[in-house]
Amino acid sequence: MSQFQNKVALITGSSQGIGKAIALELAKKGCIVILNGRKQDKLELVKSAIEQLGGAAHAIAADVSNFNEAQNLLHETIQRCGKLDMLINNVGVSSRGYISELHPDVLQQVFSSNVNGCIFPTQLALPELRKSKGNIIFISSLAAIHGLPGLAPYSASKMALQAFAEALRIEEHEHQIHVGILRVAKTAIEHQKQTVGPDGQLQTLKARTNEKVLSMERVAQDCIKLLESRRFTNTQTLIGKLNHLLNRISPIIVERILIKNIHRFKEESQ
Ligand SMILES: NC(=O)c1ccc[n+]([C@@H]2O[C@H](COP(=O)([O-])OP(=O)(O)OC[C@H]3O[C@@H](n4cnc5c(N)ncnc54)[C@H](OP(=O)(O)O)[C@@H]3O)[C@@H](O)[C@H]2O)c1
Repeated sequence: MSQFQNKVALITGSSQGIGKAIALELAKKGCIVILNGRKQDKLELVKSAIEQLGGAAHAIAADVSNFNEAQNLLHETIQRCGKLDMLINNVGVSSRGYISELHPDVLQQVFSSNVNGCIFPTQLALPELRKSKGNIIFISSLAAIHGLPGLAPYSASKMALQAFAEALRIEEHEHQIHVGILRVAKTAIEHQKQTVGPDGQLQTLKARTNEKVLSMERVAQDCIKLLESRRFTNTQTLIGKLNHLLNRISPIIVERILIKNIHRFKEESQ
């Protein structure tokens, strides 16, 4: 029997994109999946897709950056399923723009979603995850390795999660909760993905489908591997792994490489 059979997995931000791909993969492996996002109608579509595959899912709308809504999400999860085995903190929004031009709302929006939106569900899930000796995964990014030009609030928010996860591993060691971080590389966009622009307004990103980006299914498979292995981190792609290693040895070299390639980041933020 699969180690995932009848396990309850809550995936925040699973109405589309990477979170949806992780939910589908976990459901295929036998998990009872709790889908979350802010729009019930989008969640119901994913729930139907999972049920058509023979899986089990619940759709619970909640804004996880709001403590009371995150509390309702966890309460409702336990009411419906009686336990929680895995929390995948997937919610996150990126940002665009140089620090000199950022509207103050950008920082607030990015940190509220990416930091509060992961910390609140984590805190609230701990009592149940202690009982199940379960897993908490943070979906991070290669942008958490070294602060990136044009992506500063996003990079900083993912780095904040790294510190949070490190402390959490030590605090929860005696309770045998597994805490893992998946540093995700640039991934395909086949859906309406939004980013926070320099003016604080949401912008829809262009589709990203070339061969240089990972598929969402690949990210989901790496998330499953992290759950299975109970390791701390996985950094995606060879470039990501080299970047991580080089940054530990000499961040100055990484900085020089970034300065040399600054035009790519400028193009990206257009
Ligand atoms: N895509 C990439 O290239 C890439 C690369 C590296 C890392 N990542 C990370 O991977 C994760 C997922 O990225 P993605 O590209 O799949 O994002 P996405 O397409 O923008 O999807 C975000 C999901 O989160 C939900 N959501 C947003 N804010 C929420 C909130 N406050 N409360 C509850 N749900 C919320 C959205 O649904 P509603 O809008 O309906 O709430 C949606 O389901 C993020 O943490 C991102 O930083 C992505």
